[in-house]
Amino acid sequence: MDDFDLSRLLDKPRLNIERQRSFDERSLSELSIGLTRGGLDYCEITYSPGGRSGLDTPVSSARNSFEPHPMVADAWEALRRSIVYFRGQPVGTIAAIDHASEEVLNYDQVFVRDFVPSALAFLMNGEPEIVKNFLLKTLHLQGWEKRIDRFKLGEGVMPASFKVLHDPVRKTDTLMADFGESAIGRVAPVDSGFWWIILLRAYTKSTGDLSLAETPECQKGMRLILTLCLSEGFDTFPTLLCADGCSMIDRRMSLYSMLYTYIACYSGQYLEKCALSMLKHDTEGKECIERIVKRLHALSYHIRSYFWLDFQQLNDIYRYKTEEYSHTAVNKFNVIPDSIPDWVFDFMPTRGGYFIGNISPARMDFRWFALGNCVAILSSLATPEQSMAIMDLIESRWEELVGEMPLKIAYPAIESHDWRIVTGCDPKNTRWSYHNGGSWPVLLWLLTAACIKTGRPQIARRAIDLAETRLLKDSWPEYYDGKLGKFIGKQARKYQTWSIAGYLVAKMMLEDPSHLGMISLEEDKQMKPVIKRSSSWTC
Ligand code: GLC
Repeated sequence: MDDFDLSRLLDKPRLNIERQRSFDERSLSELSIGLTRGGLDYCEITYSPGGRSGLDTPVSSARNSFEPHPMVADAWEALRRSIVYFRGQPVGTIAAIDHASEEVLNYDQVFVRDFVPSALAFLMNGEPEIVKNFLLKTLHLQGWEKRIDRFKLGEGVMPASFKVLHDPVRKTDTLMADFGESAIGRVAPVDSGFWWIILLRAYTKSTGDLSLAETPECQKGMRLILTLCLSEGFDTFPTLLCADGCSMIDRRMSLYSMLYTYIACYSGQYLEKCALSMLKHDTEGKECIERIVKRLHALSYHIRSYFWLDFQQLNDIYRYKTEEYSHTAVNKFNVIPDSIPDWVFDFMPTRGGYFIGNISPARMDFRWFALGNCVAILSSLATPEQSMAIMDLIESRWEELVGEMPLKIAYPAIESHDWRIVTGCDPKNTRWSYHNGGSWPVLLWLLTAACIKTGRPQIARRAIDLAETRLLKDSWPEYYDGKLGKFIGKQARKYQTWSIAGYLVAKMMLEDPSHLGMISLEEDKQMKPVIKRSSSWTC
């Protein structure tokens, strides 16, 4: 029997995190042997407790059991240097400590989204305290009245970032939050609340400590975030109006529409499932839960059916009739085949597929977004077949999507006239740079998680190997430029914390795949996906 049920592996609570497990590649290969031999219903992983104190730099991150990769120690040091303290307590990590860069801008702040890989690294290393402090501090900030210009923002909005101001004379620390009112371009963050809930679940899963999520404050915080996302509007789709530039891609890239776009949409699903597992069934919680369940069904159907693109689907669109009217219309969005860009025909392999960037009347945004597709796998928004197809696509379009530095945030880049119109001539988003086809090492952890979930760790291994040839030598850049991601990004910060933490999380997950349980969600039990073993599962 070839089926491999990850859920039994992932459902294990990780209670004893003080004694971190040292799950090295030997153990991983044991797992693969178990799988490739077949005959196993699921794979039991045996842990060898390392007996390490949670505060040490782990020695388990290794090329093999005995030899730690030299980069790991450097990465831990750099990550620890980025820790921000509030009244003596660690509360987050600064976005980048690039002393060479002239302009600090807001890189000296703790960004909610940037802290996620840091938090996961600390959790995996048995250091939950900083994560708990972060969750509580940001929850407190959610309670502030927020204004951008003269507009009042919704109650549940979480800040994009915050900063701790130390007054050495008065010996006081004060928190300053940014909800978009001082951000470049005044973009409010849509994704901060999502990440907050995802992190709360990761913390709960990792520590087994339910008490934090159960506090009335956390329950209220979750409900407020969800109220923002579940609000009903004028649109007919299970979506949320989400402006361009409100997510990790916080610049104009034509990602707005009436839909949740890549992160909003895909992680919306993720977030709602996370919340579902943590909300209490009291009167207020129940109402929220009912709305989530309804939304989840509609959202999954919508995305799985209309956002999915593979060879067959492309061929169908290519042959679409247009101007159809009535319920029987096949071409529901009236997509005109001539609007399919040429690159898609070359890019689409016969095996493989992905969720496109967006769909709206007469317009499909065919671009590939790495974050959205990885999150779709982790949240089980993608069916098991779709998850496999996404991995097939990454493998067969390796040069385009990974090149020399994992991982391209979007593919392809928008060039010349289109670039002018779409980005407003943004000099950061020139072709194959920054959000416009740049390569972001932080995405390595998401790729690794998706690889493990789909039973294809060898893809992650290959990507990590590539990152290891450059990241430390180049001082952990924020992003790389070029069609192959060969050049350090033109305005990339060095010592970008999420590049550092993303690498560490990827390493730790590959060493101990059970960490995946913190961030991966399984499909409803009734529709539990059975993950097919990849024929190439070896590292
Ligand atoms: C840039 C990125 C954003 C990130 C921030 C801090 O603005 O676009 O995603 O959170 O830098 O690193």
